[in-house]
Amino acid sequence: MIIIGGAGFIGSAFVREVNRRGIKPVVIDLLTYAGRMENLIGTNHDFVRADIRSEEIHNILKEKESASNVVVNFAAETHVDRSIYKPQDFVTTNVIGVVNLLEAARKYDFNYVHISTDEVYGEECGDEDSPLKPSSPYSASKASADLFVKAYVRTYGIKAIIIRPSNNYGPRQFPEKLIPKVIIRTLMGEYVPIYGDGRAERDWIYVEDTARIIYDILEMAEWRGEVYNIPGGQRYSVLDVVKMIGEVMGREVKIKFVSDRPGHDRRYCMITKLKYEVTPLREGLRRTVEWYLNNRWWWEPLIKDKFFVEDEPWKVKVSK
Ligand SMILES: NC(=O)c1ccc[n+]([C@@H]2O[C@H](COP(=O)([O-])OP(=O)(O)OC[C@H]3O[C@@H](n4cnc5c(N)ncnc54)[C@H](O)[C@@H]3O)[C@@H](O)[C@H]2O)c1
Repeated sequence: MIIIGGAGFIGSAFVREVNRRGIKPVVIDLLTYAGRMENLIGTNHDFVRADIRSEEIHNILKEKESASNVVVNFAAETHVDRSIYKPQDFVTTNVIGVVNLLEAARKYDFNYVHISTDEVYGEECGDEDSPLKPSSPYSASKASADLFVKAYVRTYGIKAIIIRPSNNYGPRQFPEKLIPKVIIRTLMGEYVPIYGDGRAERDWIYVEDTARIIYDILEMAEWRGEVYNIPGGQRYSVLDVVKMIGEVMGREVKIKFVSDRPGHDRRYCMITKLKYEVTPLREGLRRTVEWYLNNRWWWEPLIKDKFFVEDEPWKVKVSK
């Protein structure tokens, strides 16, 4: 199996999952700010550093693909605030990079697993057949890629599936994202900036559940472009989650309300055709807090990042 973007947050959890199932995957990753070899410590894999936008990735896939014939792609620019700040990077990686991988799938005939997101449905509750109504540059880039996957299945007959998880949380998530930001800033004794009224609702799923469910989907996929939603089924507002983190940590979380993220979706919500169990949010948060408490070495070098430090990071002037 080849896991692209395997040095990121969900990708590295998936590497651990396939190791548990006795598989040693090939991990391909560019190692952007979000991808770190530290995330793969203790896993069994072969590593190749490469960019999904490059021509070189075709040769790597050709050479390595014979090992398994399944290529799972987690690689993406993933932070909505960054997409508001600089959308072009999201188009080149999340759209053009994916089309480049689809071209490779056309040539080398592997089974392509595309990891998408619940954000493509916009604020409406989507089942697997619902129309896509993305709001942010991030979700627009992800929705575009999904449409290209479908177009390649229909036009060229490539073998592919699309998987749409909801908001993931757990160990090794980059501190720019809500849950690690709340935990780390509270450990540092700092306030946490909350966008708008804090009542935007997300559907939360523990990352190890996502990794397990993705693997189970691979075993039953028909490879005809079908879509699988993976909601956590636990919809809570940002403020509710922040409160729960404070309870789990046994500390007061200091909140500062700041202006809302432009175009902010009020909620995400998905329905799925799959059946599975997930970790209750409070238990998942307990494990997550414990991991960040025990792994300061992992996050301490990252806290200068402007998407962690700034209250309204999308307002920071774009550097050329
Ligand atoms: N985190 C979530 O809550 C969530 C929810 C739903 C869907 N998703 C999707 O799941 C996937 C993984 O998300 P994540 O949170 O683990 O992301 P992440 O930002 O932690 O990791 C992304 C990985 O992709 C790599 N990458 C980026 N650009 C690349 C390129 N051009 N070539 C090769 N590698 C590149 C990075 O180095 C990094 O390792 C993404 O497709 C994301 O859209 C994430």
